[in-house]
Amino acid sequence: MASGLGTEIVGIVNKLQDVFSAVGSSATQIDLPQICVIGSQSSGKSSVLENIVGRDFLPRGTGIVTRRPLVLQLINRPKPVATPNPDGGAVQSSKQPEVNGVENKEEWGEFLHLPGQKFYDFNKIRDEIVRDTEAKTGKNAGISPIPINLRVYSPNVLTLTLVDLPGVTRVPVGDQPRDIERQIKDMLLKFIQKPACIILAVTAANTDLANSDGLNLAREVDPEGSRTIGVLTKVDLMCVWDAGTDVVDILAGRVIPLRLGYVPVVNRGQKDIDSSRSIQAALEHERQFFDTHPSYRSKSQYCGTPFLARKLNMILMHHIRATLPDIKARITSQLGKYNAELTSLGGPHGEGNSANVVLSVITEFTSEYRTMIDGNTQDLNVNE
Ligand code: GDP
Ligand code: NA
Ligand code: MG
Repeated sequence: MASGLGTEIVGIVNKLQDVFSAVGSSATQIDLPQICVIGSQSSGKSSVLENIVGRDFLPRGTGIVTRRPLVLQLINRPKPVATPNPDGGAVQSSKQPEVNGVENKEEWGEFLHLPGQKFYDFNKIRDEIVRDTEAKTGKNAGISPIPINLRVYSPNVLTLTLVDLPGVTRVPVGDQPRDIERQIKDMLLKFIQKPACIILAVTAANTDLANSDGLNLAREVDPEGSRTIGVLTKVDLMCVWDAGTDVVDILAGRVIPLRLGYVPVVNRGQKDIDSSRSIQAALEHERQFFDTHPSYRSKSQYCGTPFLARKLNMILMHHIRATLPDIKARITSQLGKYNAELTSLGGPHGEGNSANVVLSVITEFTSEYRTMIDGNTQDLNVNE
C-alpha cells in the first residue's frame, strides 16, 4: 500500500532530521520536507496546528504568543493491542483521558532538549514550551530563531513534521527590536525558502486576502505556488460581522488563485480558549458549521481540519517521492565522504560521536531507501 509506504519514509526522514538538529549545522546538507505555518500574528496558526494534532498543547491567544519556532514531529504509533498478562495477573489498568491533564499512555510528547523525558500530560507540554521560550527570550515579548524541537507520538495523528512560527508583526512591543518585522520575516524566510518546505499560508478570513502576510511571503519563495496551501481561518467570524459574506470566491480561485488551493477552517475563539472548550467539541462545532452553512454545505467534505490534514499528508507523500532521487544522491555522496573521513582517521573509532551517529542513521536510511526502490518501483511510478 502506498500510504503505508509513505508513513515509513516520513518516519525515517523525521529521524534524520532529529539527528541533524542535534549535531548542529555541519551535517544539515539534506533538505527534508516539512510543513511550515506562516501568517500574520494572531491569524490562527497555532490553533490550526493544534487542531491537526488533535490535542491541546500549544500556547495560543491574542498578542505575540509564539515567539520561537517550534519544530513538531507527529509520529503515528499504532494503538497497542490489549493482551492479557502472560502471568495470568491483572491487566495493567489504562486510564482513558477525560480531560487534557489526565494521563494517557498512548500519546506523549518528548522534547529534544529534555531527552528521555516523556510528557503524557499535554498541559505540561504547553508549560514546557512557555518555560523554554521564556528561558531563551525573556518574558517581555522577545523573539528568538532558536527552535524548540518536540515529538508527539500518538495513534491519532498522521505522520507529519510541522513547524509553528512566530507571526508577522509590524509595531515593536516590549523587548522587541525596532526592526521586528524584518527580523521575523527573515526568520520565516529561512524556514520556507527551502524547496523541501511545504508552506501553510494562514490568513484570517475576516481580513483582506490581498494584504495576507502569509501569502505575500510565500510568493517570495514559491512564486509558482507549487508548495503553498492557503488556509482560511476565522470563517465563523466572517458570518458574524458580514452577513452574506463567505470565502466561496477565494475557494474557487477567483481572488488569488493558488495551485494547491485553499482550505477553510473554524478554530476555537478566545472565549473557547478561556473556557477550555475541548478540541473534540471544537472539531464537532467546525463540522456542523460547514455541514449546515448555506455557502459550504454542498462542498463541506472539502472544508475543515480533517480535510486539511488529509490534504497535507497527500501533498507530503507526493513531495517526498518527487525528491527521493535527489535525497538519495546526496546521502550517497555524504556517506562516501564520511567513510573516506573515517578511513583517513584510521577506521571507525571514537564511537558515540556525532559523525558516527549520523553515519549509522544515514546507513539505515540508505538501506531502507534501497528496499523501497527495489521492492516498490511500481508504487513510485504510479500516476496519481
Ligand atoms: P497565531 O498567533 O497565528 O498562532 O494565532 P492563535 O492560534 O494564537 O490564535 C489567535 C487568536 O485568534 C486566539 O484568540 C484564537 O482563539 C483566535 N482564533 C484563531 N482561529 C480562530 C477561528 O477560526 N475562529 C475564531 N472565532 N477565533 C479564532
Ligand atoms: Na497570537
Ligand atoms: Mg502562534
